[in-house]
Amino acid sequence: MRTLVIDHPLVAHKLTRLRREETSSATFRLLAEELVTLLAYEATHGLRVQPVTIQTPVAETQGVEMADPRPIVVPILRAGLGMLNGMMKLMPTAEVGFLGMVRDETSLLATTYADRLPHDLHDRQVFVLDPMLATGGTLVAAIDLLLTRGARDVTAICLLAAPEGLAHMEEEFAGRDAVVTVVTAALDERLNEKGYIVPGLGDAGDRLYGVV
Ligand code: URA
Repeated sequence: MRTLVIDHPLVAHKLTRLRREETSSATFRLLAEELVTLLAYEATHGLRVQPVTIQTPVAETQGVEMADPRPIVVPILRAGLGMLNGMMKLMPTAEVGFLGMVRDETSLLATTYADRLPHDLHDRQVFVLDPMLATGGTLVAAIDLLLTRGARDVTAICLLAAPEGLAHMEEEFAGRDAVVTVVTAALDERLNEKGYIVPGLGDAGDRLYGVV
């Protein structure tokens, strides 16, 4: 498994504003979107492209275009939805699949309640959007499902990660027949007794959409 912690002043600036408890939901949504676009730029270094011949106003030349089959972006509901626009700005022709996962706040175990993904993901590059890599339970369950459907190149984009979550991912995906990458804006200190990332930013879903 590969982990990329993006070291960039704009990423750090936007993340700091996102963390502030006084940041309103409206501003939080905007910042999350901008931050994801920056992370997506780094996360798509390995995007598959194919050669194409084009005509400029001056001459014929060679370029590239996104290869087929197109990549698929999978936001994990609910909080991953807040990352979708930022990702699609960069890859407007990607497909989007949805995965609904909920974490039991006592056992911290993740269960799937919605699955709108293709049954066959062979040859598809998959970008999973989940803002908080905390225990790793949700992301491990989500990526396991993607690998079961044939995906072999999965990149998870997370606003924040905890060392415990990354260790869990390493344990699950090291030595597997797949390239799994985590791209994040910061690696925080730890999880607290409730499974929240410290210092973190609180509950990402609540901060994006309010407490339900
Ligand atoms: N999920 C969140 O939204 N925040 C955390 O800190 C951990 C999990």
